[in-house]
Amino acid sequence: MKKLLVLLLILGIAFVGGVYFGKQGEQTSRITNSQNGSSFVGGYNAESDQTLGAATADSPQEVERQANVLQVKEGEKIQDAVRLAEPGDTIQVFPGQYSETVYVDKDDIRLIGVIQEGARATLDGKGELNDAILYSGNNFVVENFKIIGYKGNAIMGQAGNNFEIRNNVIADTGVYGIFPQLGKNGIVEHNVVSGIEDAAIYIGMSDNIHVAHNYVFDSVAGIEIENSRHAIVEDNYVHNNTGGILAFITPGLPIKTTYDVIIRNNFIDSNNHPNFGAPGSTVSGIPAGTGILVMAADDVIIENNIISDNKTAGILITDHANAAEITFDKDSDPNPDRVAILNNTMLNNGYDTVKEVKALMLTELKSVSPDIVAVGAGEGSCIINRHRYKTVGIKKYADCDFTNTDDVITYALAEPVPPRVIDPSERGKIAYLGVCAGCHSYTGRLIGPSVVEIKEIYKDNPVGIAAYIANPIKKRDNFPEMPPQAYLGGDTLLAVGEYMLSRED
Ligand code: HEC
Repeated sequence: MKKLLVLLLILGIAFVGGVYFGKQGEQTSRITNSQNGSSFVGGYNAESDQTLGAATADSPQEVERQANVLQVKEGEKIQDAVRLAEPGDTIQVFPGQYSETVYVDKDDIRLIGVIQEGARATLDGKGELNDAILYSGNNFVVENFKIIGYKGNAIMGQAGNNFEIRNNVIADTGVYGIFPQLGKNGIVEHNVVSGIEDAAIYIGMSDNIHVAHNYVFDSVAGIEIENSRHAIVEDNYVHNNTGGILAFITPGLPIKTTYDVIIRNNFIDSNNHPNFGAPGSTVSGIPAGTGILVMAADDVIIENNIISDNKTAGILITDHANAAEITFDKDSDPNPDRVAILNNTMLNNGYDTVKEVKALMLTELKSVSPDIVAVGAGEGSCIINRHRYKTVGIKKYADCDFTNTDDVITYALAEPVPPRVIDPSERGKIAYLGVCAGCHSYTGRLIGPSVVEIKEIYKDNPVGIAAYIANPIKKRDNFPEMPPQAYLGGDTLLAVGEYMLSRED
């Protein structure tokens, strides 16, 4: 008995020490763990960010004026309070039903639902309204709402920086749940989002983002980092979506890259929901049963997730060439480079995978159900403890030279970044990037038709575009309705029409 113990101890030490003297298949397995070994040192360097340091808090106006609290009770309009509010104010919304679209175009507004004995302020679009909350102001905080029954978005940001979107319960709000577009420095945390046709949490063309502690289920895409940089997605529970967590580049958008994304410490379970994305949309190409999807994004690190029961694959890494519903963009690199797969717990993935993956497995003479699938081009990627998983397509992956991302706490910035300065001459461009690009790509179909198609219809007629988008009518049977944009105001409507027609991509 004693001898056996000693033997086990010696064996144990050999394991912990990081070497395994055995042969498994053809390859000697190197055992590493995330407790020892070096940590990730790359990624975003906040100090080198030129826009840092110009915080807004010391503007004289703000010092003079005490922040107000405006209260909204059932029967009143939240928009009326926003109209009265000044920068620095908090708007408290008491429990009850509110059916409206709230536009926040001022800076430093906190829109806070009051929760009383579990009852929340509920924004209900009744299946008729498009958007619940649209903000373009900076330093915007929205908390504690319940949002249901809209057709477009629950909470959409249009070029607002330093946002906090927290503790909202969102269900069946149409195309997107939480959608900050073109924002820098933002937090999306502790939200519960379900029943969304496209992405439940959609970080679009944004930078320095933290998405944490959200519960996201029954949607097509769970959490999506699209054409965005420096994002951490951690501690989320992502269940029964078509695809769980996605980091990718959609071609044809004005911002062309996705990189520096850390996906860690998430539960990514049974994302097998049949795909109900709008036909032709990017997400409609996601095979049901995809835990994590990396498409054309660079420097994505996947660490310490529990990834289970996703029937196509636990982790699917692809270039644009092998993806469905993708039109190429000559300015976007189509390949995922430098993806790092650190330790993850993977159970029972890939058990009913798609035929393309089966074909790939045949080329490696494998008939297993894959945890990890890599298809197409891309270079510089790595993995640790590859012997733990059933894999296909990762032969060219090196062993990573780091084991964890403990040194990176967040990519959100300690100091607020200054508002995006919008010169009147840029009004059309910013509205286009912040609003239209979420649904219109240059070449391919997104939610709406391509800009190429629109240019053909409206050639020299920006006034026609302005008129249409102020009050869209249903034109195409196979597309959803376009939400009205009249709130942008006449000048911006015309400017955005001109800008759309001027694009050459
Ligand atoms: C939530 C998604 C969405 C957003 C945001 C959006 N659109 Fe659209 N757009 C659509 C859809 C869907 C259609 C197709 C509607 C149809 O054919 O019935 C469309 C159609 C159009 C058309 C074609 C009209 C025609 O006569 O065929 C134009 C022009 C247009 N959008 C411009 C814009 C502009 C400019 C913006 C930004 C201010 C914008 N859209 C924002 C979804 C969107």
